Amino acid sequence: MHIAIIGTGYVGLVTGACFAEFGVNVTCVDKDESKIKKLQEGIPTIYEPGLEVLLSKGRREGRLSFTTNLKEAVQKSLVIFIAVGTPPRETGAADLSQVEEVAAEIGKYLNGYKVVVTKSTVPAGTGALVKRIISENCSEEFRFSVASNPEFLREGAAIEDFMHPDRIVIGCGDPEGVAIMKDLYSPLYLIDIPFVITSVETAELIKYASNAFLATKISFINEIAMLCDRVGCDVYDVARAMGLDKRIGPEFLHPGPGYGGSCFPKDTRALVHLAANYECDLKIVKAVTEVNDRQRDLMLEKVKQMLGEPVGKTVAVLGLAFKPNTDDIRESPAIYIVRKLVDLGVKVRASDPASIDEAKKLFPEVDFCTDAYETAQGADLLVFLTEWNQYRKLDLEKLKSVMAQPAIADLRNIYDPNLIRKSGFKYVGVGRTCSF
Ligand code: UGA
Repeated sequence: MHIAIIGTGYVGLVTGACFAEFGVNVTCVDKDESKIKKLQEGIPTIYEPGLEVLLSKGRREGRLSFTTNLKEAVQKSLVIFIAVGTPPRETGAADLSQVEEVAAEIGKYLNGYKVVVTKSTVPAGTGALVKRIISENCSEEFRFSVASNPEFLREGAAIEDFMHPDRIVIGCGDPEGVAIMKDLYSPLYLIDIPFVITSVETAELIKYASNAFLATKISFINEIAMLCDRVGCDVYDVARAMGLDKRIGPEFLHPGPGYGGSCFPKDTRALVHLAANYECDLKIVKAVTEVNDRQRDLMLEKVKQMLGEPVGKTVAVLGLAFKPNTDDIRESPAIYIVRKLVDLGVKVRASDPASIDEAKKLFPEVDFCTDAYETAQGADLLVFLTEWNQYRKLDLEKLKSVMAQPAIADLRNIYDPNLIRKSGFKYVGVGRTCSF
């Protein structure tokens, strides 16, 4: 089978590389010539563990190619995935202009039956829009199916998630399209991954509902952490005991500076907006976004309280990405907090194993360092903002010896508070027996 993936961002590139690994012939398309040139030369355009190996294997074995020529890719493919961006508009609604543009081009170049699949996260009803646009742009009467096949890939673990998903959701109104999609995913069907076959609109909503629910868990535990701080309890124990209840589960109950990234912040807002169009007031999801915004400011308050008068102080920030194992800083709470600290007149030193190049573009005034100890040099406070593994077992004595003051704000709860305090540090965590 030959397929085309339009859009070589995080989702498109991972999807293309993984399908090629399954033995499918994949053409990845992007209008960004510099991106395509890099990919043709075997240079990955994003940081994603395991991706480089799959890209070079797919290219070497002739199953994975990159092009800016959408027409050619569409015409030789049976299945065409739309994996372009759906960024938020001012209103919170998803901006579908890239999806619409691609759908029009697909329509123009249709030369036979195809399945056109949206991978991009799109509001319920977009499949119908894609169908209309293709029909309007198609000069001859070619048949095509429209499907929705949302992705549930976590950045940093995207290859693993693609190869071993919890479920595959296929939204498609006609049996031919469903059969082709099932065939495409047969390597996963054969290892007993559950398939949910549904209408296009339902599949589209499943994606938003899943992300909104995960975001709800995070905001919920962040609120409980705030209460723990006030009452003097340990949220670690609260979350652990809650998570042992199988109905609740332990995942996504880690308090921190709030969720970030390219998905949760935008998708929760888009869902609220979509619901409002249907005169539904999604009170819970709205509150989830509000709690998340407040969480960043609550964390900033913790830092400020630890620091005292900010002007002239030095803060060492460890971690800038919105989570570990990615170079992605989009909507990262770390970026928000660094910006506020810089504005307060604090001297910021920062490091991150993967995202420094991007962060440098935002903060010319920040001193970027290569490792934790260099970052901590002369600092009045060390702040953990991303839970990278390499920050989990630092030499506390060495840190203390290079810092101006021994003080740690562990905003990802990666250390045992007692251990830190015993080592002579002033400490604050998130919901870990502290009275701020
Ligand atoms: C998320 C979903 O997990 C994927 O299933 C989905 O496909 C993807 O969005 C998407 O819509 O494309 P991702 O944004 O890569 O994936 O990252 P997550 O691992 O879900 O983390 C999101 C944010 O929540 C991060 O900022 C993370 O630090 C935060 N988080 C997560 C917490 O603060 N606490 C937790 O317990 C878990």
